[in-house]
Amino acid sequence: MTKRARIVGVGRYVPEHVMTNDDLEAIVDTSDEWITDRTGIRERRIAADHESTSSMGAEAARRALASAGLTGQDIDLVVCGTCTADHSFPAAATLIQHEIGAPGAAAFDVNAACNGFMSALSVATQFIASGQSTRVMVVGSEVYSRILDWTDRGTCVLFGDGAGAVIVEATPEGERGSVDALLLRSDGSQAGLLYANGPATPGDAAAREAKVVMNGAAVFKHAVVAMAEASAEVVAQAGYSVEDIDLVVPHQANRRIITALADRLGLPMEKVFLNLHKYGNTSSASIPIALAEAVAEGRLKAGDRVLLAAFGGGLSWGAMTLEWGGVRHPEAATADASIART
Ligand code: ACO
Repeated sequence: MTKRARIVGVGRYVPEHVMTNDDLEAIVDTSDEWITDRTGIRERRIAADHESTSSMGAEAARRALASAGLTGQDIDLVVCGTCTADHSFPAAATLIQHEIGAPGAAAFDVNAACNGFMSALSVATQFIASGQSTRVMVVGSEVYSRILDWTDRGTCVLFGDGAGAVIVEATPEGERGSVDALLLRSDGSQAGLLYANGPATPGDAAAREAKVVMNGAAVFKHAVVAMAEASAEVVAQAGYSVEDIDLVVPHQANRRIITALADRLGLPMEKVFLNLHKYGNTSSASIPIALAEAVAEGRLKAGDRVLLAAFGGGLSWGAMTLEWGGVRHPEAATADASIART
């Protein structure tokens, strides 16, 4: 029998170091006014030299375990959404699996750029639906600061580092709180709009540096249309109407993209969770950080209908509707002094 999946734990970790828009003025020809007005971003976190996608992901995962009242022993699969893994291999997920003490767990990464967490979460729900897994750690973790071109004002002001994690488990018979509908799509014909060259890219040495290259205006248009269509489709698939949605937790790329999405869906911004002013675009980490923060702020309660929507390079996008089941120890997800300051 197909099993349904629900989120029972959330956690987030962001590095201590804050880079403000004023700090960026000293690096590229930009201004706090331009960045705030065009994106909504005021500051972002930058990983310290000793931090990595796996170390931040492991910390977020430990906090998710605490919020669920579980240990690593309870986890049978670790999936990490990332496009900035510590190494080409091993996968960041295997390093996280070791760090959280999950000896029985399988582990692998999913790379779908900023749609990485949604893709990883979709994998988790399918492993649970098939009965292959009973409890999955889903992580989104990124260190974009290491792949940005810090001379390109069109991209370097947008991104930040951080990690988030959720634990997904099979919903016991008769209990509420589960993923209702999900949709993933891609369009590789538009790959040139947003990419980072990696070591496998043919060409000269300069082209092989792993720097983010983006056509911002084109990505903007695709993002709004794709996320709005995917969102409308999952809401319909789940049998809800848009008015039934209690909270939208979108990928935190740009406040204007999110406002346009809410407009298209006919949803008031009070129902949309926003924290990009504090972290910028953390790619795969943005939705799980936002979910953990929504729990910490009391914005999510058991029974709430939640819409997730993400978009990224690929192009790749997706949406999901779920009923919020509630985490057992929400206070554990809030235990982070570095986050409390903003
Ligand atoms: N500071 C000051 N001026 C700037 C900056 C900056 N940081 N960046 C660009 N400008 C200038 C441009 O040079 C241009 O000047 P010009 O008119 O003299 O040529 C002007 O501002 C307008 O540039 P646009 O690119 O048209 O600005 P736009 O309003 O489109 O905003 C932005 C740019 C913020 C990048 C927007 O297009 C956007 O958010 N796009 C989506 C990006 C995104 O979300 N990407 C991530 C997807 S997720 C993933 O997979 C990584």
